[in-house]
Amino acid sequence: MSNPAPVEFPVNELIQNRWSPRAFSDKPVPQEVLRSLFEAARWAPSSSNEQPWAYIVATKDDAENFEKSLGALVEFNANWAKKELAFAKNNAPNRNAQYDVGAASLQLSIEATARGLVVHQMAGFDPETAREAYDIPQGWEPIAAMAIGYPGDAASLPEPLQSREKAPRSRKRIREFVMSGQWGHTAEFVK
Ligand SMILES: Cc1cc2nc3c(=O)[nH]c(=O)nc-3n(C[C@H](O)[C@H](O)[C@H](O)COP(=O)(O)O)c2cc1C
Repeated sequence: MSNPAPVEFPVNELIQNRWSPRAFSDKPVPQEVLRSLFEAARWAPSSSNEQPWAYIVATKDDAENFEKSLGALVEFNANWAKKELAFAKNNAPNRNAQYDVGAASLQLSIEATARGLVVHQMAGFDPETAREAYDIPQGWEPIAAMAIGYPGDAASLPEPLQSREKAPRSRKRIREFVMSGQWGHTAEFVK
């Protein structure tokens, strides 16, 4: 199952094909693939090269750890995110940290796409539950969870998730967010 972005202007196929499905296959992600995903995150740009990210990974074959991760997700997400899970953290005093964590996680997602995997990021989890479960020190803030795995069959999902999986993907037009000269003035080249 794929759901390529209906782009208005041409983009690299990895950008077009990256998406956030909820159906995952049971196929485990080999350790060498996981290593490459985090190698991709490692090479993300960050403010002053501080690299203010850390990921706690729970693979499904590590049942105790995996249950701990699922326990931090809000119920909606815990119901579908049943594959590899990773929590990204940021180092709070760095005001660019969230931006940098996002960049690292997107690089991971693009590498995953190139390798035929899918990644679904989630804000729907309880940071304090994650902090307690993993003894995350103060100064590190849980930012996002992500489900990582091979794509599955949309038919395995209950409704309404199944329909959402098949719905066309949508975005604002670029003319709504590309400005020039002054806030609110759409750049000529995108009109
Ligand atoms: C920071 C962040 C948090 C998200 N949180 C959730 C979430 O809690 N649950 C969920 O089902 N999807 C979540 N998503 C997925 C978005 O809904 C999804 O990326 C968006 O609808 C665009 O779809 P696409 O990634 O397939 O292009 C999150 C994505 C990001 C980047």
